[in-house]
Amino acid sequence: MTIGCATDPPAQPEGWDSAVALRPAVDLDGRPDVVEVDLTARVEELEIVPGKRTPAWTYDGGLPGPLIRARVGDRVIVNFRNELSAPTTVHWHGVRLLAEMDGAPGHSQAETPPGGSFTYDFVVLDAGLTWYHPHVDSAVQSGNGLYGPLLVEDPGEPAALGDELVLVLSDITVRDDGALEDPDVGGNLGTLFGREGDLLLVNGRVNPVIEARAGLRQRWRIVNAARSRYYQLAITDHRFTRIGGDGGLLEHPVETEMILLTPGERADVLVAPRGAPGSTLSVRWVPYDRGYGATFGRPEVEAFRLRLADEPAAEDEPLPEVARAIGALDTAGATRVDLKLTLREGPGDLVMGINGVASWEAEPLVAAVGETSVWTVENTMAFDHPFHLHGFFFQVLGEGGEPVRPLEWKDTVNVPVDGGARFVVRYDNRPGMWMFHCHILDHADAGMMGMLNVVR
Ligand code: C2O
Ligand code: CU
Repeated sequence: MTIGCATDPPAQPEGWDSAVALRPAVDLDGRPDVVEVDLTARVEELEIVPGKRTPAWTYDGGLPGPLIRARVGDRVIVNFRNELSAPTTVHWHGVRLLAEMDGAPGHSQAETPPGGSFTYDFVVLDAGLTWYHPHVDSAVQSGNGLYGPLLVEDPGEPAALGDELVLVLSDITVRDDGALEDPDVGGNLGTLFGREGDLLLVNGRVNPVIEARAGLRQRWRIVNAARSRYYQLAITDHRFTRIGGDGGLLEHPVETEMILLTPGERADVLVAPRGAPGSTLSVRWVPYDRGYGATFGRPEVEAFRLRLADEPAAEDEPLPEVARAIGALDTAGATRVDLKLTLREGPGDLVMGINGVASWEAEPLVAAVGETSVWTVENTMAFDHPFHLHGFFFQVLGEGGEPVRPLEWKDTVNVPVDGGARFVVRYDNRPGMWMFHCHILDHADAGMMGMLNVVR
């Protein structure tokens, strides 16, 4: 028997993350490379605001849904059951799976009716934080609480990056009687602006407090699961080291003052909180102008807090090497896709579209397996749009067509007002129908969506 005499390395305070703990999904399969979980969509009364009962739409009775953990290369089986009163599907945002597992109704799979079930079965090829949400009436269904994280871990990553937190950001409006806000509140104007909830939610909690040890790095794996809200986060006198995004690690880390996440985007960031022992740091939601002036004049607000333990700051640990070799996709000979994000003027319900055509009238684009394509998405509206392509990761290009550094794999990119976005994608061997759309879900449901048919 040996008795250690070294002092314990500095650690986060006991129970440091309990205020934002996510319920883990239970793996029903004993095999090391298979993760099998049950997932049921149903309404559950939750106490989101103290003293109020809110019938939220949930996966497995919680908001967000359970945290599914897998390792790169694992097979993931999800036994999904729909106990809602509406049809639904589950879309695995950021997973390169086969089209028939993508949860895109009418194209890759049928809607799962109330009382119905569907087994999702896929292999997770890429490390990173992905997430799941419905793809039927998605503004309403996600807005009512349906979303959850799927974290794909790479055992080869350096362990010493920081103590890990998965943070699912969203928002919601709870009325005085506890009911959820009418999903169509504000009519056409609500759709045009994109409906934001009044309350910011961090793992389903309002303004939670995370305990921290000053100087000790934390690794935040963040997804913006909000229906329409952009999340821009800052901590006074702190910088973040962004090491990853939608599709895993970046080519190399970058330092930033703020983290911007449009709906659907993910960020993998390191932060070492500093301050006097016992003090509190505010992680602020900072208004971002996505059209018509800073998100409708909403003031800056605290999203969550870090309370520093009554202990001296830990010494800085040097950051381990987190570089990743990513090759820039070759655009020579690439085909082109040119899209405009559009608003149709006229009476009746507000209709958005792509190239003037609403999703329900659109013919799919066609591409071939193995093809490399440069997409240019131009914004003709006075609102930003986060543009998402299903099934494939892309690399964002600058205005001159040059790759944006550091290179990273993305599946959602912001298209600013009076601007555009350009990216290059290569369709690997997964033919089928793939959606693309604005991830302001109010816009997607109003028609800003299209299909890409990748054929062999
Ligand atoms: Cu998260 Cu079709 O999207
Ligand atoms: Cu949009």
